[in-house]
Amino acid sequence: MSDSVLLQQLKDQLELLEIEAEKDISAASDMDALEQLRVRYLGKKGRLSEILGGMGRLPGSDRPLVGQRANVLKEGLQNLLADRLKTLKDQALNDLIANEIIDVTAPSSGIPAGHRHPLIKTSDEIVDLFCGLGYGVAEGPEVETDHYNFTALNIPKNHPARDMQDTFYLSGNNLLRTHTSPVQIRFLENNPPPVRIVSPGRVFRRDSVDATHSPVFHQVEVLAIDEGLDFSHLRGTVMAFLKAFFGDLPVRFRASYFPFTEPSAEVDVQWRGRWLEVMGCGMVDPAVLEGLGIDPERWTGFAAGLGVERFCMVRHGIDDIRRLYTSDLRFLEQF
Ligand code: DAH
Repeated sequence: MSDSVLLQQLKDQLELLEIEAEKDISAASDMDALEQLRVRYLGKKGRLSEILGGMGRLPGSDRPLVGQRANVLKEGLQNLLADRLKTLKDQALNDLIANEIIDVTAPSSGIPAGHRHPLIKTSDEIVDLFCGLGYGVAEGPEVETDHYNFTALNIPKNHPARDMQDTFYLSGNNLLRTHTSPVQIRFLENNPPPVRIVSPGRVFRRDSVDATHSPVFHQVEVLAIDEGLDFSHLRGTVMAFLKAFFGDLPVRFRASYFPFTEPSAEVDVQWRGRWLEVMGCGMVDPAVLEGLGIDPERWTGFAAGLGVERFCMVRHGIDDIRRLYTSDLRFLEQF
């Protein structure tokens, strides 16, 4: 075959391909069919490649001619494919809009409503039980001063008890409260005894997270100041509260130490065969009352700090505190 015949043949093939491809593309009725056409004509092993395979037999001077022609053709077909794709997509959307029927009378699937977090429910329940015993509710700030969090609670600078509560310090003299006990001081500054209050809230300590520790947790503080209060009132109140909250779990009082109470105790409940501490408590130290200008000869009282997480975990059989903070709805929706 002479060169010029071969050249003409290739040109004819390209032209034929163009005519057929254009026809097919404009007739493609869906996106799958369009993709198949793209592969058939322009794919690696498609018709165009096949034709260009014959180019090798052309003399070098003729090749650019065919190459150019092929490029123009390829670009043209690509544009055509893109246009057709857009038309098909538009069509599909229009069909959907035309055919979709919205039944405005159908019952809705319901809007999922949240509910309070199990920790807050537990805290509220503790507060409610004390309210039932005649206690009021007082709250205090989460950002505290050294004075309220420590000094006024009989924990002077350099006192070892400060180490027990690893503190997040802020700028100035501020810190994140390590317990709810500073509310005792704030409340007594503004309210002369007799007082009976509970104070729920978040507290912060530089603890690493594990199954029983979290740098943010919750307490409920209890404070009662009156004439003639002694340890039996503290014990009676705590026992009545624990019975109301837990039913008949075994309870024990363990002698302990807190700078702001004397004597002090920690209270454990028996859970899953182990003793679990749920609160610290004691008789308010006279030094704390004196610091507030309250006469400790006349007024005595007791205080307690309850660990809300512990109450929540025992109540619901949760063995890892982290579950309470991970915001996993599959877990939280159970409560
Ligand atoms: N503030 C203590 C703590 O966070 C708990 C506590 C112990 C509070 C004894 C009290 C109390 O009111 O009397 O570890």
